[in-house]
Amino acid sequence: MKLKPEQIQDNWEIFLNNIEVHITGERKQKLLDFYKKYEDRIMLMPAAHKKEYHNAFPGGYVEHVNRVVRCAIKQCELWKEESADMSTFTIEELVFSAINHDLGKMGDEENESYIPQTDKWRRDKLGEDYMFNKKVPFASVPDRGLFMLQSHGIQYTFNEMLAIQTHDGLYDEANKKYLFSYMPEQKPRTCLPFILHQADLMAARIEFEREWLPKLNEEQGSLDKLKENYTLGTTPNTSKKLSTKTKALGSMKSDGLKNMLDNL
Ligand SMILES: [Fe+2]
Repeated sequence: MKLKPEQIQDNWEIFLNNIEVHITGERKQKLLDFYKKYEDRIMLMPAAHKKEYHNAFPGGYVEHVNRVVRCAIKQCELWKEESADMSTFTIEELVFSAINHDLGKMGDEENESYIPQTDKWRRDKLGEDYMFNKKVPFASVPDRGLFMLQSHGIQYTFNEMLAIQTHDGLYDEANKKYLFSYMPEQKPRTCLPFILHQADLMAARIEFEREWLPKLNEEQGSLDKLKENYTLGTTPNTSKKLSTKTKALGSMKSDGLKNMLDNL
């Protein structure tokens, strides 16, 4: 999957517009300044470094984040219709969390997390266009994202911290402390983290389907064609195979087995 330069530019404008429309107060300008500062990096970032993951192509990150924002707003409507308690969070908190949920993927101030793959074999044989930048010290994506926000003076609420921290749901074991408790008082007091997780899951799944289902179907088609040449079939162009089958049955001594195979 590849995005055209115009699509990358359009997606970036949608990204900034989400901040313009949904974020208020002093932090709105700070957030815009932050993203303008890292514009060249973030606009072209992939959402992942391995092609098996979602949106691992230039511009894939912003495309993914914009989809998560859209899905989060739609999911929120669904929760509202089903009478979830909407008083526990605001739409600004929802959109802020969606915009910044994967920010930790950018790396740190100096270095990008994902850089072009230098290993020719991995590029050619595994199709990996990116690799991890070893200059960036390890931190989880949510931890680094929250660190980048606070180091640029961008405040976030308790709800936003919780939603960004747990956006991978129980796919990340570290979230068990927030999401796996049976004690009512230890459960999140808002459905915001669940809405964001569902939106992220939905977006990543759609991106996977778009990239991989056509390839897998194509591979299956080629495999089926290949199999036709090696299977005892009854289609008109398999006369050679039928004669092989007849020959094979003729050399069989067991009548029971012969009958059974003859009926195939
Ligand atoms: Fe994500």
